Amino acid sequence: MRVTVIGGGTMGSGIAEVFAQFGHDVILSDISDSILRKSELAINASLKKLSEKGIIKEPERVSERILYDTNFTAYDSEFYVEAVIEKPEIKSEVLHKIKNQNAIVATNTSSISITMLSKYAPNPKKFIGMHFFNPPVIMKLIEVVSGYDTDGDTIKRVMDISKSLGKTPVMVKDFPGFISNRVLMALIREAIISLEEGISDAAGIDTIMKLGMNHPMGPLELSDFIGNDVVYDILNVLYNDLGYERFKPPVTLRNMVYAGKLGRKTGEGFYKYD
Ligand code: CAA
Repeated sequence: MRVTVIGGGTMGSGIAEVFAQFGHDVILSDISDSILRKSELAINASLKKLSEKGIIKEPERVSERILYDTNFTAYDSEFYVEAVIEKPEIKSEVLHKIKNQNAIVATNTSSISITMLSKYAPNPKKFIGMHFFNPPVIMKLIEVVSGYDTDGDTIKRVMDISKSLGKTPVMVKDFPGFISNRVLMALIREAIISLEEGISDAAGIDTIMKLGMNHPMGPLELSDFIGNDVVYDILNVLYNDLGYERFKPPVTLRNMVYAGKLGRKTGEGFYKYD
């Protein structure tokens, strides 16, 4: 099928790559050609890794299935995935531009209400959350989130499509942070508070969680990987919508965001990167 992915950042690029890997024709769109050039480089580098490991046979064929264009409204697709920045006003603006009422429109939001966003989609019955995890080509989970109006046929199709992409979909209800970020953000926040209280340093906290709990990354390393700004935004949504003190964004995190220490993408967060 033809799939339009809107948003060429880490998640949008990875999602486009997954659909192309499984034979779909993909249009990947973002606001500028320079962003799309970066997306293309990241996708091709990732495809090279996958082909070196024998996971995919013909990386060029996969690459050719992706068309990069800043104007996604020039194409009509059966399936849309919105993966733009985690700001309701930007997501709603993008969703509003999709006109095909028969298409399924999925959002990769990690914390914004699906039901709220559905009001901007062409057809709320065909609007759904399809939450991928970073890096999308490696991570096996898709958290499928039904909104108030999402119909049964859309849920079934998205569960089936997720399985056909080699993923395990798990359905959850439209609650702040769904399951993944409700649980993960509590962990990351507690790690930051532990750092603020001086119980251990960043490397100590992460080593404890990696070797003691067998997590592939420690919580602070993971916050840098997700982006400290994204973690801060999600904690704000959880704190404002659920009202629990346990999601109050730590001041250290707020200051790091203000200072531009966003993690891997800016070269510094809880750690420094080359
Ligand atoms: N494309 C292709 N291959 C990739 C890749 C990519 N984008 N990223 C990693 N890989 C491959 C590497 O080539 C490597 O392959 P080999 O083992 O064959 O060498 C393998 O994956 C492991 O990578 P690395 O050796 O670089 O490092 P690693 O062992 O630490 O694995 C990781 C990297 C898979 C990211 C692992 O650290 C991990 O699972 N971390 C946790 C990730 C996680 O929790 N993600 C979810 C974040 S939350 C989120 O996304 C949602 C949200 O709403 C915030």
